[in-house]
Amino acid sequence: MNIPEKYQIKETITQNTYLVNGELKKWTGQTSEVYSTISSTSTYQKTLLGTIPTLGETEALEALNSAVAAYDKGQGLWPTMKVVDRIACMEKFVEQMKTKREEVVKLLMWEIGKNLADSEKEFDRTVEYIYDTIEDYTQMDRDSAKFEKHDGVNAHIRRGPLGVVLCLGPYNYPLNETFALLIPAIIMGNTTIFKPAKFGVLLLSPLLEAFQNSFPKGVVNIIYGRGRTVASPIMKDGRVDVLALIGNSASANALQSVHPKSNRLRMVLGLEAKNPAIVLKDADLDLAISECIAGTTSFNGQRCTALKVLYVHSAIIEEFNKRFSEKVDALKFGNPWEEGAKLTPLPEPDKPAYIQELIDDALEKGAKIINKKGGETTENYIFPAVLYPVSKDMRVYKEEQFGPVIPVMSFSDIEQPLDDMAESNYGQQVSLFGKDIKTLAPLIDTLVNLVCRVNLNSSCQRGPDVYPFTGRKDSAVATLSVHDALRSFSIRTFVASKDNESNNAILTELLQSRASNFVSTDYIL
Ligand code: G3H
Repeated sequence: MNIPEKYQIKETITQNTYLVNGELKKWTGQTSEVYSTISSTSTYQKTLLGTIPTLGETEALEALNSAVAAYDKGQGLWPTMKVVDRIACMEKFVEQMKTKREEVVKLLMWEIGKNLADSEKEFDRTVEYIYDTIEDYTQMDRDSAKFEKHDGVNAHIRRGPLGVVLCLGPYNYPLNETFALLIPAIIMGNTTIFKPAKFGVLLLSPLLEAFQNSFPKGVVNIIYGRGRTVASPIMKDGRVDVLALIGNSASANALQSVHPKSNRLRMVLGLEAKNPAIVLKDADLDLAISECIAGTTSFNGQRCTALKVLYVHSAIIEEFNKRFSEKVDALKFGNPWEEGAKLTPLPEPDKPAYIQELIDDALEKGAKIINKKGGETTENYIFPAVLYPVSKDMRVYKEEQFGPVIPVMSFSDIEQPLDDMAESNYGQQVSLFGKDIKTLAPLIDTLVNLVCRVNLNSSCQRGPDVYPFTGRKDSAVATLSVHDALRSFSIRTFVASKDNESNNAILTELLQSRASNFVSTDYIL
């Protein structure tokens, strides 16, 4: 195998600690092996990357107790700390994180098969996200460095933490999406328990020490193991205040349902989607095709924002299918570090078989594979099949494929895709391709009520991260963006006092003495 020296796996990683109560605690119990579906040898075989602890309920509750103790009924060092000091801790963390770029990028490639450019982008985007979060929180703090007075009541209003947050991220963005939950949760003064996703676990090892030495003990707890074994007991206990999860709605529902106090539990969820592209007959075909290629195939379709069904107007379907299929076949498959590799190995060993099932079902019900390479299978990949004509009784229409298979449908009446979207359980985004504003205007006005982002003549995506990322129905709960995430992980809380001489004297003294971290009009410069 021709693997560049710097990307070769020369030794495995033994992750034999977990972070709890500020300590990287040694684990001597059961472990699980972490494999990459990428082969290091010319005869195919999975590559062993290392081992991780298989923790159980006892360790999960130990992490929960640690987070609860760090919150300490609202008296903890972290939730009561001055904003400026919490920001300093986060700055310390991100400075250390930046030094681990190479190690993390390499592991992103091996663990989840993301290509080099996208792995680098995932790392850099996350670092930028942390800096933007710091900047936004600083501004939020400046804006609340004041009192208000209404109807004879003085008020000092800020955003305060919610309590203990359980954070679960997805395998397709094991760094970025997980940190886009964890970082705002931490900086707002919450204490956290974080369990990495099923893939993309070892890439956190280089960052454990930074988490340990940047924040007070118990603020960040990192545990390993199966969701069912570690996340469920934590939820069942009832002391978690926020479930922050990016993944699928079945796991979110299962975890919510075991929490005994449904009103206590806040939720920040980014769930599955089935984002459609609607290609109108006057669309710029070159543009629509290249955006649909990016939308359906980048990271092999393993993105919640991926285009998962294409609706193309019947007047242009033939031309679209021909050119689109050729472009799909021209995409290069290769290992993540290979120049120009757009399609890369799938991290889930059983994914090719699942995609094959979707293809077989569609073929049985009348669709055809219209590209030459569609469905070609190797040990760790199945080449994207473009399926046409797809109908609503097919599994590939109903299920979120989250992988390389592309269903295409044609329409002549725009009500068809609109009805399908209204009927769908999902409501994240749509891509709309066309030029005539008389057609576009009413469509836009409808689509914004069915999803939360209408991408005009471009594929769907989450970024830029300052924009709201959310969805309707089973696609999301709460809104994420640099700013919105800070709001989602906090609540407005304030000190109110009647405007009279004795109260005002107390307030003045509180401010002048700087004895309170909450009642403070200090302005962060
Ligand atoms: O998995 C879903 C991600 O939020 C998608 O983000 O659009 O930046 O790939 P992206």
